[in-house]
Amino acid sequence: MLTRRLALRRLAMATVASAVPVARPAAPATKGVTSVDAGPRDSSFDPWVEIRPDHLRHNVAEIRRRVAGRPIIAVIKNNGYGLGIENVGRLLGPRPEVAALAVIKLHEAVVLREAGVRKPILLMGPFDEPDLEEALAHDIDPMVYTPVGATLDRLAQKRQRPANVHVCVDTGIGRVGVPFREAPALVRDLASRRSVRLAGTMMTLTEDPAFDGEQVRRFVALCAGLEREGIGLGLKHAASSFALFQRTDAFFDAVRPGMAVFGVYPEPGFRTLGVMDLRPAVSLKARVAYVKRLMPGDSAGYNRAYVAQRDVWVATLPVGHADGWPRVAARGARVTINGTAYPVIASVSASHTIVEIGAEPHVAVGDVATLFGWMDGARPEDVGASCGASVYDLTMHLNPLLPRRVV
Ligand SMILES: Cc1ncc(COP(=O)(O)O)c(C=O)c1O
Repeated sequence: MLTRRLALRRLAMATVASAVPVARPAAPATKGVTSVDAGPRDSSFDPWVEIRPDHLRHNVAEIRRRVAGRPIIAVIKNNGYGLGIENVGRLLGPRPEVAALAVIKLHEAVVLREAGVRKPILLMGPFDEPDLEEALAHDIDPMVYTPVGATLDRLAQKRQRPANVHVCVDTGIGRVGVPFREAPALVRDLASRRSVRLAGTMMTLTEDPAFDGEQVRRFVALCAGLEREGIGLGLKHAASSFALFQRTDAFFDAVRPGMAVFGVYPEPGFRTLGVMDLRPAVSLKARVAYVKRLMPGDSAGYNRAYVAQRDVWVATLPVGHADGWPRVAARGARVTINGTAYPVIASVSASHTIVEIGAEPHVAVGDVATLFGWMDGARPEDVGASCGASVYDLTMHLNPLLPRRVV
């Protein structure tokens, strides 16, 4: 007997077949595509995320060149900036340029270990004692900034092994981190314990050019003072993607970029500096689900956000803000189909986006639409600039349930 779910699926397919008299589109395959998701089968019309391992490799090599061979602690938090935490861990873990991976959430760190990542993993998010015990059991190195020495002693005694920790110092970002004036006492305490190995000392810049210099001075003075006392601070690190472009004085012993690893310039102005050639490693794609002609006065979208002024063809893409494609895309973004960029019109709803094709029906059901990707003009930076979306929102908000394809 058919399950209800299967019956519904069959019903849906039958409806599609009678309503859309076209051949079922071929699977969205690109040569060499590996689908890394092994869940229930996705509809051939579901949007998907493509990942370019060659671009990830290029970007880490480029960052390494920029920082004169310093090790990279690759920040791959928030589901690997949208590419999928396991995909990114497997692809970046073995790269010689990557000394460690950093995440915020414990479950991501554990997933990385379970996916076979062997490099050090830095956990930059908060934890309680059971979390810490679990992290250490998986050889995950916590970022610490509170008096956790006694807890680390207890856990080290159980494990019969010291814990690697990175001390996070707040030199002005006011978010997490021990305030820099109180940091010497914490570092001395941790360094004095046999249960602790100081693997790193870190800070985060506010990315305010007028203040970053002061933050760097505070960090340098703190570290120099502690080192004069004979305390080994491990790797000193601060530089996110922004600092890779702006602050060579914050490169220290290792750098800690995220967005640049994924090939996206964190600020529009950085693209033309010629400092690094970054190649986007992520693309959001969907297939055209429906093409129709609107006549003057016909509308499209909720609240009739778009009203045709003339005969015009529009295409509907089955992708929307629930997939991570931002609502603001309707304020100027373009979507590339068969090499042409078409404007997003009306409004982006949870699962639909409408694009204006023009006077002729130049696209067909099943054609692949690139919402953003690696081509010039359709890079995340281009889409972000066209509609006011942040490149961080474009990548990190990609729905984790979307299929990921490594191409
Ligand atoms: C502590 C810390 N370091 C480094 C990064 C990497 O930042 P970006 O993606 O701008 O390079 C992040 C991300 O926000 C972070 O939270």
